[in-house]
Amino acid sequence: MKGVILAGGRGTRLSPLTDATNKHLLPVGLEPMIYHPIHQLVGAGVTEIMVITSTEHMGDVVRCLGSGHKFGAAFTYRVQEEAGGIAQALALAEAFAGDDRVVVLLGDNVFEYAITPYVEGFVGQAEGARVLLKEVGDPERYGVAALDERQVVEIEEKPAKPKSRYAVVGLYMYDRQVWDIIRSIEPSGRGELEITSVNNAYIARNQLQYDVCVGRWTDAGTFPSLMEANTILSANANRILAHG
Ligand code: DAU
Repeated sequence: MKGVILAGGRGTRLSPLTDATNKHLLPVGLEPMIYHPIHQLVGAGVTEIMVITSTEHMGDVVRCLGSGHKFGAAFTYRVQEEAGGIAQALALAEAFAGDDRVVVLLGDNVFEYAITPYVEGFVGQAEGARVLLKEVGDPERYGVAALDERQVVEIEEKPAKPKSRYAVVGLYMYDRQVWDIIRSIEPSGRGELEITSVNNAYIARNQLQYDVCVGRWTDAGTFPSLMEANTILSANANRILAHG
């Protein structure tokens, strides 16, 4: 299993904090934000990791992270030249992944507890994809899952009228079909290759499984959510590090 951390994008919602630096290098808890997905992947036993970020900030990201040695990991880096969407960024990891499956983390997602149980669930899954859902108060900000009794029947990206309160969290696990799926999807109305389109393609194949996230979760893309991320990690940094 290989890991992919997506740390591109423009971070405009956090301006002026992001005028001179990459969102994922901002402090959250005791460390730069991007340390969190790294600790999460390494804790789950995923140590070969590709980090994808923008041309503008690659130098700072490499200076911050290095080879991966200090995390017990090995990093490979790739530049995403334009912020063309999460699925476009992920496509850059195809050759790196080779025949392996991938665990993808958005670089601004913060979890109270380890992601290990969800990764283990995917390891035990014969094929397809696995996503993580979390009940939230403001689902219209996220990809939102419509559920029947057993499965996700549809995911809508930032719907005006969400069909549930279950946001799709920025942890995605895919088998090798993902690369052909990304090639087959079209840009959305906002001009991005959406990860939601990828997940809906797995639903169409009847191959999308899910877990519900235990404990607190947030992204850190807006000022209120950045504060929440700080609260989560300040209280739990030591526990997450200790238990991986
Ligand atoms: O946080 C979970 C949500 O993340 C999901 O519920 C949504 O379905 C998903 O689309 C995404 O929504 P956001 O609007 O919050 O995504 P954002 O544009 O903020 O990007 C999230 C991360 O992905 C960001 O930390 C950097 C990375 N990214 C994003 C884009 C658009 C890239 O690396 N490249 C990109 O082109």
